[in-house]
Amino acid sequence: MDLQKRNEDMRRFFAERCDGYDDVHAEFMPTKSAITDALPEGTARILDLGAGTGLELFSLFARFPLAEVTAIDLCAEMLARLAERPFADHVRIICGDFFSADLGVGYDAVISTSALHHFAPADKLMLYRRIFAALRAGGLFINSDYIVDSSESEARQFSLYRENDGTLPHIDTPLTAEHEHELLIAAGFTAVTADPVDRDNYLLFRAQKPLN
Ligand SMILES: C[S@@+](CC[C@H](N)C(=O)[O-])C[C@H]1O[C@@H](n2cnc3c(N)ncnc32)[C@H](O)[C@@H]1O
Repeated sequence: MDLQKRNEDMRRFFAERCDGYDDVHAEFMPTKSAITDALPEGTARILDLGAGTGLELFSLFARFPLAEVTAIDLCAEMLARLAERPFADHVRIICGDFFSADLGVGYDAVISTSALHHFAPADKLMLYRRIFAALRAGGLFINSDYIVDSSESEARQFSLYRENDGTLPHIDTPLTAEHEHELLIAAGFTAVTADPVDRDNYLLFRAQKPLN
């Protein structure tokens, strides 16, 4: 999978759909607020990967009104919506690629939702290592995202992506929960858990950077 091409497909896909995005994702709100519920009391510095229009930040700022959030996304059109949110003053917005941008360091939590189910395992491992490096010791990575229920489905989605002749605008390539778990452990995380959220084919992954 060519990561640069994948990113460009993604950027264009969301730029063309940002107008109706919030309506389409209204039914996903429980998968987004589940992240806030999983954060410990006192969480203050947060990095949001693939923040889009910032829907997950409504519940986050309701619980942590003084949080300092850094939000990164490839798509300027999606981020323009985020910049209009009532909490935008508390958000540092980066328009860039989370595989290559300077993510910063020392976060209490790195969060992501609906944004990481498009990448080959080797690229995901690289990203999970970047997330690990961006967290403070003891910090948490929390990802609420699509999964598939078997290795066969995982392989089928990747072949569909490879064989797409351009007729399908967007093909998801989620991994199985076991595969996600393996990659998180390989990146150095500990205490990795995966819990159901209020949507089929979604899980809430929670992984901790060890304290020492
Ligand atoms: C389905 S949207 C999710 C937005 C938001 N997190 C939510 O749940 O409503 C996925 C977002 O991930 C962003 N994205 C995908 N790949 C990215 C990358 N490599 N770097 C930064 N953002 C990326 C897309 O531009 C898009 O805005």
